[in-house]
Amino acid sequence: MWWFSSPKIVFGSDSLEFLESLKGRALIVTDENLVKAGVVERVLERLRTAEVEYEIYDRVEPDPSFEIVMEGVSVAKSFKPDIIIGVGGGSSLDTAKGIRAIYENPDVDPEEISPWTELEEKGTKLILIPTASGSGSEGSNAIVLTKKEENRKIASIHPYIMADYAIVDPEMVKDLPLRVAVFTGLDALSHAMDAFVSSWKNDFTDGLCIQACKLLFRYLPRACKDRSDLEAVEKVHNASTIAGIAIGSSQAGLSHTLGHSLGSIFHIPHGFACGIALPYTTKFYSKFVLEQYEELAYHLGINEKGEKAVDELVAKVKNLLVEIGSPTNYRDLFKELGIPESEFYDKLDNLVENASYDNTILTLVEAPNDEEVRKLFTYAFEGKDVDF
Ligand SMILES: [Fe+2]
Repeated sequence: MWWFSSPKIVFGSDSLEFLESLKGRALIVTDENLVKAGVVERVLERLRTAEVEYEIYDRVEPDPSFEIVMEGVSVAKSFKPDIIIGVGGGSSLDTAKGIRAIYENPDVDPEEISPWTELEEKGTKLILIPTASGSGSEGSNAIVLTKKEENRKIASIHPYIMADYAIVDPEMVKDLPLRVAVFTGLDALSHAMDAFVSSWKNDFTDGLCIQACKLLFRYLPRACKDRSDLEAVEKVHNASTIAGIAIGSSQAGLSHTLGHSLGSIFHIPHGFACGIALPYTTKFYSKFVLEQYEELAYHLGINEKGEKAVDELVAKVKNLLVEIGSPTNYRDLFKELGIPESEFYDKLDNLVENASYDNTILTLVEAPNDEEVRKLFTYAFEGKDVDF
């Protein structure tokens, strides 16, 4: 037995209007930069029109911790919302999901949530409004939180975690800085490609993965060049949610095994950590899922079979990285971010160890051993073609 679920999705321009139909008390979960930038104000205007009483919890940070969720739960306990509205990127949306889950189930330890944990629905609605096009958190039943003292991320999934509504409004992302559009878009692509080759892949998600990949390969370059290209911005925003729904049922995979580990140690943007891994993880993992990559390649216009199809798919991903101005290896990313190269090699043992604990390794068709993970990290760092 397995399940597929999705929030109700309100999409397209002016979908924020949906907020005007709400009643009751709303707790907004966001970060202070979005409040300062006036992005949250677009949501508040609609709530005021609806005469919804609201409170803002804006202490969400990148790579949110369990502590941030618990602090938000305390705010919820005193404010007693009927609705929790997450506004932001994956960090704010994941935090909002965590707050709703623990606000309604105070005896549950958020670190222990698995698909088999008993979680009760007590009627607090969860609405998620993404302000970036990448995490897909608004469409998934997953929460990724950081365990600070161990410097690692823990991903929890559960059907109950799914939002009641996702509002996928391109207006909320049209002012996204171009650099953010690049790495968030790569996160979406990593979800779609990972989920298509997961051991949990299924008939309900395969089409979503293919469509998300098609949209991203076609529109991401445009959306990363000019945010006033509203057609491209909207298509990428939709693709991100579509890929998010797919990972909710199929799970992310090997690009995320590397990406989570690299991100938790070096605190680099998640989308870069995963997206740059894709050419390397795709080639390595193709020995286990050749047919699936052949099928994906076919849908992306590649008329080759076997390893040739994989090689063209890998080349297509690399071309996309170049086209949108992303580094194609971790070394160049480190250079851009001012992280000394030596730190990568100093932390390589930790990177491999963290990867071996990552939840995403559990849903691979075959998990790489530690030596293979070490090689994958090294090849992705040095930009070498995978030959093992
Ligand atoms: Fe991701």
